Amino acid sequence: MKYDVKDLSLAKKGALRIEWASEEMPVLKLIKERFRKEKPLKGIRLSACLHVTTETANLAEVLSAGGADVRVCASNPLSTQDDVAAAMVKYMKVPVFAIKGEDSKTYYKHITAAVEHKPNITMDDGADVISVIHGKRRDLVKDVLGGTEETTTGVIRLKSLERQNMLLFPIVAVNDANTKHLFDNRYGTGQSTIDGIFRATNILFAGKNVVVSGYGWCGRGVAMRAEGMGSNVIICEVDPLKALEATMDGYRVMPIADAARIGDIFITLTGDINVLRKEHFKTMKSGVILANSGHFNVEIDIPALKAMSKSVRQIREFVEEFTLPGGKKINLLGEGRLINLAAAEGHPSCVMDMSFANQALSAEFIRKNHAKLKRKVYCVPEDIDKEIARLKLKATGIKIDTLTPEQKKYLESWEIGT
Ligand code: ADE
Repeated sequence: MKYDVKDLSLAKKGALRIEWASEEMPVLKLIKERFRKEKPLKGIRLSACLHVTTETANLAEVLSAGGADVRVCASNPLSTQDDVAAAMVKYMKVPVFAIKGEDSKTYYKHITAAVEHKPNITMDDGADVISVIHGKRRDLVKDVLGGTEETTTGVIRLKSLERQNMLLFPIVAVNDANTKHLFDNRYGTGQSTIDGIFRATNILFAGKNVVVSGYGWCGRGVAMRAEGMGSNVIICEVDPLKALEATMDGYRVMPIADAARIGDIFITLTGDINVLRKEHFKTMKSGVILANSGHFNVEIDIPALKAMSKSVRQIREFVEEFTLPGGKKINLLGEGRLINLAAAEGHPSCVMDMSFANQALSAEFIRKNHAKLKRKVYCVPEDIDKEIARLKLKATGIKIDTLTPEQKKYLESWEIGT
């Protein structure tokens, strides 16, 4: 078996951490039991480009239990947990191509290794596998029944392919399921982004001006948690509706040019490029902290920051201190890569349980329905989304009400008024 991981001797530690995570992933566990019996993915070659974490290892186990021949590569050069990668190779016999801190060349070499599996189903977090297949490796398209996409940024890229009529196989947008983005993007990113900043810096959030760029589900989660720790949260947005919501959620809203002058900690989660750039670095206070939690490392204009600095030093693990000519210091965390996975462990297992339940069931959906699917980006079917919510509630021991026949009838009628 071919693979490329940092060090197989880390496998024992990884296996224990994977087991620990599994305790918070009851929905995946139920799916695994069914997959083991029914083998819905038997004979399927599946290439997964995901953050290599304890949660991803649990997903890989489910897919393998369902009969898939799984191969995994990293979806970010800094997010791999090397002990987990080792455990997946050594104990789960899953070929993994991922090393934390790999350079860009190795990152793409690993994606190439994953696609050389000739996948029938692709599983992406950021659409890099699909981008490679739609670019240099079109020869592989004939084998692909469909793909899934985990994250907002990936779905945006795929919808752009679809709009340009260039999408070559159907995609299920896992990110768009309610049981994904309402929990993973909001509570997962909310907690893990702040966890990443804590681990990288050990700074106090209470009393700090925390500037959050982007008020999508991820930005909301971060804003909510920073506020809970006593920060003064400022939101920067381009969408009037989201800006209005942020105002009524109780935050100050202002353009980044204004926020740049007063912020202590800046967090970008927009999915767009150069959100923090030269003109902002110029007016920031000395000692500010810049972190990105969007998918790609493009939201902070790092080349501009480098160009205007007279020196750079690594002052702590995951913290680069840039000194500008007047002596002002700007601290960049995790090379501008998603800080929750670079400096912490990503979203907690409890929310990844639902995200990855969507992945597993979407793979099964593609297997069963590919003949009917077009070259389009599909939502996760509503019955799958609802079932995951039901299973999660059940596993959490929370009971809910059901409509009485009279209430059902009322909701279906149009005649009855007051
Ligand atoms: N994306 C964000 N957090 C993650 C995690 N813990 N595992 C895999 N992908 C993630």
